[in-house]
Amino acid sequence: MAETNLQVLLRRRPKGEPVPEDFEIVETPVPEPKEGEVLVRAGYLSLDPYMRGRMAEAKSYAKPVELGAVMEGRTAGEVVASRAPGFAPGDTVAGGYGWQRFSVVKAAGLIKVDSQEAPLSANLGVLGMPGLTAWVGLEDIGTPKPGETMVVSAASGAVGQVVGQIGKLRGCKVIGIAGGPEKCRYVTEELGFDACLDHRGDLDAQLDAACPEGIDVYWENVGGAVQAAVFPRFRDFGRMVMCGVISQYNVAEGADSFGGAPGPNLGPVVRKRLRIQGFIVSDNGWPRYPAFRKQMLGWMAEGRMVWKEDVVQGLRNAPQAFIGLLKGRNFGKLVVQVD
Ligand SMILES: NC(=O)c1ccc[n+]([C@@H]2O[C@H](COP(=O)([O-])OP(=O)(O)OC[C@H]3O[C@@H](n4cnc5c(N)ncnc54)[C@H](OP(=O)(O)O)[C@@H]3O)[C@@H](O)[C@H]2O)c1
Repeated sequence: MAETNLQVLLRRRPKGEPVPEDFEIVETPVPEPKEGEVLVRAGYLSLDPYMRGRMAEAKSYAKPVELGAVMEGRTAGEVVASRAPGFAPGDTVAGGYGWQRFSVVKAAGLIKVDSQEAPLSANLGVLGMPGLTAWVGLEDIGTPKPGETMVVSAASGAVGQVVGQIGKLRGCKVIGIAGGPEKCRYVTEELGFDACLDHRGDLDAQLDAACPEGIDVYWENVGGAVQAAVFPRFRDFGRMVMCGVISQYNVAEGADSFGGAPGPNLGPVVRKRLRIQGFIVSDNGWPRYPAFRKQMLGWMAEGRMVWKEDVVQGLRNAPQAFIGLLKGRNFGKLVVQVD
C-alpha cells in the first residue's frame, strides 16, 4: 500500500485551555517537491509553547495558523526526495515543517545535520530553537557576569535547562524554579544549578533563603505568580530577560493584559536602574545559528552541557502532549517521535 501523509490540523480556535477537539488528524497524499524544494520525512516533531499563540487570532509577531491548516511546528528527519542542490535522499536535516509525517520545504530553510554529532532529536532542543533562544537572550540581554546571581523559571524545560547551564559556565550562582521535587532534583543534581525552588511551595520564603543577596539576572519563562515573587528581589542594574510568560497563554487570549491578575509595581525599575527586555529568537537569532551550534557542540562534547528530552510516541498523541506542555506535564524538551 502506498504511504500516506499523516497530519494534525487546527480544527477550531481554543477558548482557554486547548482540548483534543480543537485538532483534527487526517491522512492525505504525500506531497511532491517542486523546483528548489525538498521532501522531508519527520523523525521528530518539536512541541513548543509558542504554538498556543499560533492557535489564536489575536495580533502577534507572527500570523496565526488558518483553520483547517496543518499546525505549525519544526521537525527533524530525513530527506526523501530533493529538487534542490545540496540535498539528497538519506540526508538528515532539521527544518521540516508542521505537525505532519511528510513536508515539502524550501531548501533555504533546511539545515543539514550530522547524526554522528548529536542525536537527531537534539536538533529540536539543546541544538535547536530553544537552545538558540537561551544563548541569544543571554548574550544580548542577560549578559551574566562571574559572581552574579541568576534566577531561571521553568528551569527543567527546553529553554531553562540551557539558560542555567550557560549561567554556570559564565561563573554565576544559578537558582532554578520548577514545579515539583522531581524536576527540582534534576535541576540541581543533573544540571548543576546551585539550588532549585518549587513554585508550588512558598516561593517568597524559598527565594529569601536561596538568594538573600538579591538577583542580578532573571530569565522569565513563566510570568504570573512566579514573576511577582522574583521581581521585588532585583539588585541595582538587574536584567529581566522576558522570554515568555507561559502561565498566561491560556488565560489572556492574546490580549496585552495581565489575565485578570494585578500587574507588578514597576516603580523599582527606575530606582534600581533595571533593564527589562523582551525578544523573539527569530528576530536575529538564526543568522547567528552557526556560531551558536559550534559553541554548543563544543560544550556537549566536553560534557559541560547536558539535556533532558520528554519523548512522546506517535504523531496522533501530539495534541494531548501539547495540552500537557501548557500545564507543566512535560519533563525536559518535549518532542514527538513521529512514527
Ligand atoms: N522569546 C522567544 O523567542 C522564545 C523561544 C522559545 C521559548 N520561549 C518561551 O520560553 C518559555 C519556555 O519554553 P520551553 O519551550 O522551554 O518550555 P518548557 O519549559 O520545556 O515547558 C514549559 C514549562 O513551563 C512550566 N509551566 C507551564 N505552565 C505553567 C504555569 N501555569 N505556571 C508555572 N509554570 C508553568 C512547566 O514547568 P514547571 O513544571 O517547572 O513549572 C512546563 O514544563 C515559554 O514561555 C516559551 O513561550 C520564548
